[in-house]
Amino acid sequence: MLSIAVAKGRLFSSFLTILREANVLKCDSLDVDSRKLVIECPEGIRFVLAKPADVPTFVEYGAADLGVVGKDTLIEANKDVAELVDLNYGRCKMVVAVPMSLGINDIRELDFNSRVASKYPRIATEFFNRHGIQVEVIPLNGSIELGPLVGLSDAIVDITETGRTLIENGLQPITTIMESTSRLIANRVSYKIKTEQINSLVQKIEEAIK
Ligand code: PRP
Repeated sequence: MLSIAVAKGRLFSSFLTILREANVLKCDSLDVDSRKLVIECPEGIRFVLAKPADVPTFVEYGAADLGVVGKDTLIEANKDVAELVDLNYGRCKMVVAVPMSLGINDIRELDFNSRVASKYPRIATEFFNRHGIQVEVIPLNGSIELGPLVGLSDAIVDITETGRTLIENGLQPITTIMESTSRLIANRVSYKIKTEQINSLVQKIEEAIK
């Protein structure tokens, strides 16, 4: 049995599509809308449904052999896991965005000690430090775009996919910090113990992605 930590929602559906195309999974009975947090498939796969930010933790501690997580979340989590495959979906950008009304186009135009709200405080702090710009990073868990709208922050660091959330909240991106896609990660011990099984899965997934 291989256990895979994955977040519910769109990314789970995309991963299931890949597994089906790779002929790894039939599991027609799999109900993605169920409230169950552990779903076992007869093909020898157990899905552990965790919050996206927690997937690297489940994998690092061996509570799951494998995990599916965005590269952005993986870097932010800073866990000791092995990155196996770029799954090439869930593509998004992490950007610094500010209110359009500010008329700012460059991070250097941000005021000294500007407040930056983010779900990615580690990446945001490292980014501004690297550019020698003093900011105060305010960690949030979601709805980051609210920050500038209600005076909590001057800017945000967040992911954007279609750009719609930024526009509808009067924000514009001024810098891209990184691009991200979903990755398959592995617990290092599981990878040693179940090398053959994991490598075979990886190979099938890579062929399906191609
Ligand atoms: C993410 C992200 C943005 C939005 C971007 O939020 O934090 O808010 O998606 O997508 P778009 O560019 O296509 O509009 P998510 O849906 O994960 O919820 P959250 O705000 O609670 O983090």
